[in-house]
Amino acid sequence: MIAIYPGSFDPITLGHLDIIQRGSRLFDRVIVAVLRNPNKIPLFSVEQRLEQIRVTTKHLPNVTVDSFDGLTVNYALIQQAQVLLRGLRAVSDFEIELQMAHTNKTLSTQIETVFLATSNEYSFLSSSVVKEIAKFGGSVDHLVPAHIALDIYQCYNNHSSLISNQVTTETTHPPRSMSTDKEA
Ligand code: PNS
Repeated sequence: MIAIYPGSFDPITLGHLDIIQRGSRLFDRVIVAVLRNPNKIPLFSVEQRLEQIRVTTKHLPNVTVDSFDGLTVNYALIQQAQVLLRGLRAVSDFEIELQMAHTNKTLSTQIETVFLATSNEYSFLSSSVVKEIAKFGGSVDHLVPAHIALDIYQCYNNHSSLISNQVTTETTHPPRSMSTDKEA
């Protein structure tokens, strides 16, 4: 059985990796599919994200990485996949994910959505959280694979050592090197 794991992955986090690893044990093949979304301005280009995910999943032989545009179910049908794999972090995810699953079901009855509950330690984690922390100079070393943390620090012209493990009670202005914001 082939599963598509669709998403933005801007960037891939340890929470995504958790779902991919567990999905790779359930399905014969998992295709991590990055949506080419013209409506979003990403931190990383699709090509960068594809490479990041390839490096992150290289230890998983039945996981491949691809990009797509248009409807996810159409991509799934082209790939002859039967399943859309999605992670559920909290109740807040449930409403949107259920709506998406129902919508997809109206588009193709052949494709089932399978949800995996995200492991507890990643229940708060999202790509947006990672970007928010890095943007303000915090360390994301514990949230994303090491090579991705480096990519993120480079993007924000930042270094984890500046803030990592720093405990301070005073209000500080971010160092000048942190003022670059690609998303601004
Ligand atoms: O990582 P994300 O941003 O939560 O992923 C959302 C994604 C890409 C799975 C969803 O937006 C999607 O499937 N988009 C493609 C368009 C589509 O198929 N729309 C119909 C389902 S709502």
